[in-house]
Amino acid sequence: MKLLNQNEAQSCADALLAWFKDAMRPLPWRKSYLPYEVWISEVMLQQTQMERGVRHFLRWMNRFPDVRAVAAAPEEDILHAWEGLGYYRRARFVQAAATAIVERHGGNIPDDEKALAALPGLGPYTVAAILAIAFNKDVLCVDANVERVFSRLLDLDEPPRRKNAARVIYEQAMQMLPRGKARLYNQALMELGALICGKTPRCPECPVRHFCESCRLGIQRERPVPMAKIPTIDVLGAYGVLMKEQHVFLIKRPEQGLWGGLWEFPGMISAAGESPESAVRRVFREKFAVDVDIAGSLGTVRHNYTNHKLVAAFFQVHCSAEAWEHLLTHGEGMALPSADIRNVAMPAHHRKLAARYFEKTGETSRQLSLLGSC
Ligand code: ADE
Repeated sequence: MKLLNQNEAQSCADALLAWFKDAMRPLPWRKSYLPYEVWISEVMLQQTQMERGVRHFLRWMNRFPDVRAVAAAPEEDILHAWEGLGYYRRARFVQAAATAIVERHGGNIPDDEKALAALPGLGPYTVAAILAIAFNKDVLCVDANVERVFSRLLDLDEPPRRKNAARVIYEQAMQMLPRGKARLYNQALMELGALICGKTPRCPECPVRHFCESCRLGIQRERPVPMAKIPTIDVLGAYGVLMKEQHVFLIKRPEQGLWGGLWEFPGMISAAGESPESAVRRVFREKFAVDVDIAGSLGTVRHNYTNHKLVAAFFQVHCSAEAWEHLLTHGEGMALPSADIRNVAMPAHHRKLAARYFEKTGETSRQLSLLGSC
């Protein structure tokens, strides 16, 4: 490890800011740095890549132009706008925080660390990002990009999240911070991590390569030192798509827990040794006291979440008219016109299946009528 001295730190920050002036991507929240826009962009970007983040951000702003619109919206609309980003708990926290901002601060996001940290779901990173980027306060927001940049710059020989490494990064980054320019400085570090100092570093293009110890040693690809890997868990899901007269049967997941409050085709993570077809029949029997027949496979959908790799098998299922009536009058399911399926919030694997069969025109109307004919 090698720290920069005061002079080096200042020259390094100067070079970084000069580079950022030209390299800065024209991201939508960089037009006016409205605190609401910065907040939403930061929450979204904590869990997704820039391109998808920008798409969701624009869609969100179109639907919820300010804090009051978020606070006033039905939760269903919030979850639907969040679809594709995962971690739906964050969407609920955004709404809870918006409500608190309306109640406590008249709809204006506060520029005070304590008041921000007291809002539901705002962790230290988001608080720092709002203070630095929206309000240009002299604070640091250290995300994975910034950790990578400093791991290489200082040649840190332990994972950047380790306590000692995190402290070194914080102290060096704080020393480098040009007072009064936190907005530009923090974003420049993130931008450098995103555009130049990525997984595969592009050192010849780097504005701070002359300050970079791991580049000097030629070991930049060995930095950052990776954290111990969390093993992934393979899971199999089995789900039944039941349709009658162009209506599809969906159930709502419990509010608490994974994908809470989202709508899905009935099914389960299948038990070891049980065939997916049997698991689907069992769900309808045990959950709704209804017997269904498996009419055919609708294929599989792969979806990764947290440390799980899910392979979800979907089946078209049939039931009698009496069973359909029973389903709609007992339990928590609903029969939704299949054309409306795009308007409800679903977990990603169910959305992928729905997109495959229900949200296309033309060629898939054949499949639609196939599904609807039972
Ligand atoms: N990643 C997270 N926040 C960002 C920002 N404001 N600019 C660029 N990348 C980011």
